Amino acid sequence: MAIIAIPAETAAHETRVAATPETVKKYIASGNQVRVQRGAGEHASFTDAAFEAAGASIADDFAATTSKADIVLKVQPLNAEEMKQLQKDTVVASLNAPFSNPLLEDYAKQGLTTFAMEMIPRTSRAQSMDVLSSQANIGGYKAVLLALEHYQKFMPMLMTAAGTVQPAKVLVMGAGVAGLQAIATARRLGAMVEAFDVRAAAKEQVESLGARFVEVAQAEDAEDAGGYAKEMSDEYKQKQAELIAKHVAGADIVITTALIPGRPAPVLITAEMVATMKQGAVIVDMAVEAGGNCPLSEKDAVWIKDGVTLVGVSNIPALLATDASALYAKNMLNFMALMLDKETGAININREDDIIEGAILSMNGEFLKADLLAGRV
Ligand code: NAI
Repeated sequence: MAIIAIPAETAAHETRVAATPETVKKYIASGNQVRVQRGAGEHASFTDAAFEAAGASIADDFAATTSKADIVLKVQPLNAEEMKQLQKDTVVASLNAPFSNPLLEDYAKQGLTTFAMEMIPRTSRAQSMDVLSSQANIGGYKAVLLALEHYQKFMPMLMTAAGTVQPAKVLVMGAGVAGLQAIATARRLGAMVEAFDVRAAAKEQVESLGARFVEVAQAEDAEDAGGYAKEMSDEYKQKQAELIAKHVAGADIVITTALIPGRPAPVLITAEMVATMKQGAVIVDMAVEAGGNCPLSEKDAVWIKDGVTLVGVSNIPALLATDASALYAKNMLNFMALMLDKETGAININREDDIIEGAILSMNGEFLKADLLAGRV
């Protein structure tokens, strides 16, 4: 039997929680005990009473929640204070910002067994544990709604007695998980949607959602072996910039999602391009946390430049706390199932399993991902 602790999140703008009453029930059914910090699910509409009804006990603070715990499940990385309160060999799974979190090696020194949910390999077996996808999906949807909050016109085409309203033109940059959901959402709301990506494979997916794919002529292959985008040549960037400039100038709403793992986000919309945009246009920069696809966007701020509203919310999934938590908690449950015996709850960390090995950061006092630190930018 393992004791599983669910602390309340303390990071700014974090509203999510790493377990829900539904996942708590499942942990308990397979022989574990669950302790939830009072109020941990409050922002995501999961009450302490609901957690208790699912079989969890409620503890007052971080220390009481994690005392003697074998496993701690979080959304955000442990901060220094939390880290120091945990006993050696505690298993901690959370998002870990592996390319920027300065505490990763300290977790190892503290003797913690840590996992970064972002590093779960994106294979078909791991799909049900893929937090990047579950959260990006929510982010892409909500980014469109955020844009609409600041956009002063209708999205769909309307023919009324008072005149015809033209549909909004939405441009989505980066057609990965978030971008594709943004396209689907904007289409459902009646917009005309264009999208582009450096990965040629995105074309078919964009078109199947009823959007137009904007292509850079003679594009080089930009997909790496892991399915992610790689950094592009200067010649490509030049051609891309010219094409983007044209499409940005015609757009009413631009949603940017372009990311390169471990690198700063590529700059796709320059300040000069913003100056050419329509009055009242809106840019939602989903890459703001990684430096932004537009240098004018500011993290956790909304501001207007040259008549264009720049929206720079860094943790968009947290704006949909209930579903974001529900999906994250499910991903977490499926991941923990790899190391928890179904009947007894005994913990077995099998490093021959590619999913466990992909996500593990530290164990037995050893930091296992030195290459991560070497690749930091
Ligand atoms: P991401 O969040 O790393 O990046 C978002 C998008 O930005 C990507 O589509 C990327 O190609 C694009 N991008 C990067 N640089 C760009 C630039 N300069 N201009 C325009 N676009 C640029 O990507 P995400 O959403 O995490 O997906 C990465 C890949 O993983 C995709 O191929 C996706 O289909 C694949 N995937 C596979 C899964 C599986 O098999 N289990 C699950 C989820 C995703």
